[in-house]
Amino acid sequence: MSMPASPRRRILIIDDNPSIHQDFQKILSTTAATTSLDALETALFGAPQARGGATYSFDVDSASQGAEGVERVRQAAREGQPYALAFVDIRMPPGIDGVETTAQLWQADEDLQVVLCSAYADYSWEEVAQRLGVNQRLLILRKPFDNIEVRQMAHALAQKWDLSRQSRRREEELAQAVAARTQELQATNARLRQEMEDRARLEARLAQSQRLEAMGRLASGMANEISSPLGFVSTNLNHLRLALEKRTAGQPLEDPAELLEACRDAILGTDRLKRIVQDVKLFARVGPQPIMTVDVRKVVEQALARAELPPGSRVQRVVEFQEAPPVMAREEGLTQVFLNLITNAAQAMPENHPEPRIRIATRTQGTDALVEIQDNGSGIDAEHLGHIFEPFYTTKPGGSGLGLSICHGIITGFGGEISVDSTPGKGTTFRIRLPRAS
Ligand SMILES: Nc1ncnc2c1ncn2[C@@H]1O[C@H](COP(=O)(O)OP(=O)(O)OP(=O)(O)O)[C@@H](O)[C@H]1O
Ligand SMILES: [Mg+2]
Repeated sequence: MSMPASPRRRILIIDDNPSIHQDFQKILSTTAATTSLDALETALFGAPQARGGATYSFDVDSASQGAEGVERVRQAAREGQPYALAFVDIRMPPGIDGVETTAQLWQADEDLQVVLCSAYADYSWEEVAQRLGVNQRLLILRKPFDNIEVRQMAHALAQKWDLSRQSRRREEELAQAVAARTQELQATNARLRQEMEDRARLEARLAQSQRLEAMGRLASGMANEISSPLGFVSTNLNHLRLALEKRTAGQPLEDPAELLEACRDAILGTDRLKRIVQDVKLFARVGPQPIMTVDVRKVVEQALARAELPPGSRVQRVVEFQEAPPVMAREEGLTQVFLNLITNAAQAMPENHPEPRIRIATRTQGTDALVEIQDNGSGIDAEHLGHIFEPFYTTKPGGSGLGLSICHGIITGFGGEISVDSTPGKGTTFRIRLPRAS
């Protein structure tokens, strides 16, 4: 019957007595089923296969001093041919003793199984355990030893060595798998980050094109708006020019009161044009400032400081600041929004109002920041309410009707919302909701 080749394991004998080396050689180098020892072993413990353990062949080397043994173990490990097991004598004058040797052996190769051999009670188990730590890689063998015991020990420890190396390999594989998985996750992370950046870029581009669209709408509205005052300014100026030309030609001056009226109308027209240009400039100014985290309360305060009430105004301003999260916005743009709303509120107060009041409040709604600008002025009639955010929609004689459309453009540009609630005769509330800065 052909036996499968038995695995070879290396054993090192460290003992100052050369005759011991030979004893170990004899006991361990024999191959399976060739010695009477094996026959005895089989008789005692059953056939190797039946015992479930591997049958090993051993290559036995020896060293006669601790230091030499440590060096051999170190070199064997370095060369990838490590020893599985070392039998170490306790007393090895003049060099280091077996316990110290064992400590150094484990520094050289932490898998190495060690059998400490002692003839005398040189050390108690407790002392050894104290010096080397309670250790599963260590057995103590009393001399003179029993040959079968030595063989059994060698086989058992070789198998233990195999198992511990296997489990270590598995641990390493596991660590590698974890590292690979971590790397995968990091790659996924990076991909997600990239996607988020792409998305942000896309959104910025979209915002930009929406802005351009808004500008386009504004420009066409502006052209419309300008054309009527421009028309009558130019008509009136022409009228004046003709009158003055006639006068220069020696004819009498037409009705001077009528000419003065034409002059006044022309100036009114240019005032109106100036207003429109100013508002559009404001709109344009909002652009270049960088978007950043902004505290809405600070911005409201800035707007309040800039909102001039007419001298002698009786309008009372009430500020109620509750905690509000920071938002992503352009400070200048937001200030412009609050300024427009405060101005509208002030303009909505009838002259004879007994107690005109504007209330400005900030607070948190869900995760968003909320700002309310409330007045107890005229309110807005239903017929106007649906149009007030349209550019150039105004009910005021000198108004440009751009204020609220500017507010709407700015707030939606920051990802927020502006809404209005109004009761004619009672007052109006504008609400601005801005998402929390992430
Ligand atoms: N707080 C308010 N109370 C009553 N009506 C308001 C209020 N805010 C706005 N409105 C109405 O909405 C219209 C549009 O307001 P918007 O601010 O856009 O333009 P405007 O105030 O008329 O002109 P501008 O702001 O250019 O001076 C106003 O003409 C007014 O009729
Ligand atoms: Mg206004």
